[in-house]
Amino acid sequence: MPARGDLTIEGRVLAPSARNAGDCRRATIRIAAGVIAEVAPPRGGDMVFGDDCLIAPGFIDLHAHCREDPSGTQTHKEDFASAGAAAIAGGVVALADMPNNPEPPSTPERYAAKRRLADRAPVDVVLFGLAETAPFRDDIPYKLFLSERPACSEAELAELFRAFAGTWLAVHAEDPAVLAERRGAATHEERRPREAEIAAVAKLLAALRAEPRLHLHICHVSAGECVPMLRAAKREGLPVSAEACLHHLVFDAETFPPALRAYRNVNPPLRTKADREALLEALREGVIDALATDHAPHTPAEKERGASGFPGLDAYGAFAAGLLGPLAPARFLDATSGFAAGFMRRFTGETFGAIAPGAVGSLVVLAPRPSGVRKQSYTTKCGWSPYAGCTFPGEVRTTIVRGVPAYRR
Ligand code: DOR
Ligand code: ZN
Repeated sequence: MPARGDLTIEGRVLAPSARNAGDCRRATIRIAAGVIAEVAPPRGGDMVFGDDCLIAPGFIDLHAHCREDPSGTQTHKEDFASAGAAAIAGGVVALADMPNNPEPPSTPERYAAKRRLADRAPVDVVLFGLAETAPFRDDIPYKLFLSERPACSEAELAELFRAFAGTWLAVHAEDPAVLAERRGAATHEERRPREAEIAAVAKLLAALRAEPRLHLHICHVSAGECVPMLRAAKREGLPVSAEACLHHLVFDAETFPPALRAYRNVNPPLRTKADREALLEALREGVIDALATDHAPHTPAEKERGASGFPGLDAYGAFAAGLLGPLAPARFLDATSGFAAGFMRRFTGETFGAIAPGAVGSLVVLAPRPSGVRKQSYTTKCGWSPYAGCTFPGEVRTTIVRGVPAYRR
């Protein structure tokens, strides 16, 4: 559990009601024992930021693979401490950790053992339980790796949803039947075509229509075709949300750095420019609720052997800062912390994503100065980043976790 501190901080506060970043007012925020105690007219503070900077609620990432579990067999590439350090460098103050571990949290005992490890993280961590046949606790979110299961019909999915009624279920949406058909194809992208994601999202939404007593969250949407399906489902009032990930917004199969071509595998794969644009538009519209990382660290040697996934936590803030403008302040705040704050409230009982008395005192300070992930000082243990050559229009100046300044540039 992160420590709790006392701190006063003055600067411009990014307000959801602002029309743009320019009309945000200055305030002094007083944090006592990790919780926001007061938001008052500006009167100085332990930290004072100029008018070019903006203070926002700390970012929340709904999708990270921190790699640490009771087996300890993957901590050569990441653990809760190093993933937490990467998060802090990226302005991320809380994250949800995925359950695809060698000893997956799929029983109460294993979940509790992983919880003890996660408590050592320097940011707040919620752990997903692995969705198998039925929930093993009723107070945690679940993750279903549809792509890893045997092919299943809409009716079978609806039956699974019945078992998970009342839960928050995040799904990796690639249809195993389509993946099986393409198993022999030449490239990673051809083996995991967009049709797999489109088919999976269609099936999941149909199953949700039949059995809507859970919250369905679609992870890492990558294909533009999914956007109208999600829009229609939301208009119908189905309990569904979705996230888009940094890498699917930044890169497409063509623009991925040529020097890193051998490292480009990720699931779902990088798609096209049109997909990137559709995802950004969906994020702007709110059809895609949240910006996530799918931080999935693997070492360079593992990447060369074909492992799928990119680290992304350390790049989150620099990339997100550039979304202020393309996204109105209210949408920006919702996509980077507000939507996820609902998730945090449900699983921790605490208020994240707000700069108001009573909310957790975890903040990020952004500045409009070009920045990027620096090769010399990777915070993730895996030792590389697809973003190392990228310059983003903004930077994370400071990250404050529960009243403790955890990062300063
Ligand atoms: O690229 C990916 N990597 N996609 C996943 O779904 C899993 C992740 C991982 O765990 O490395
Ligand atoms: Zn993932």
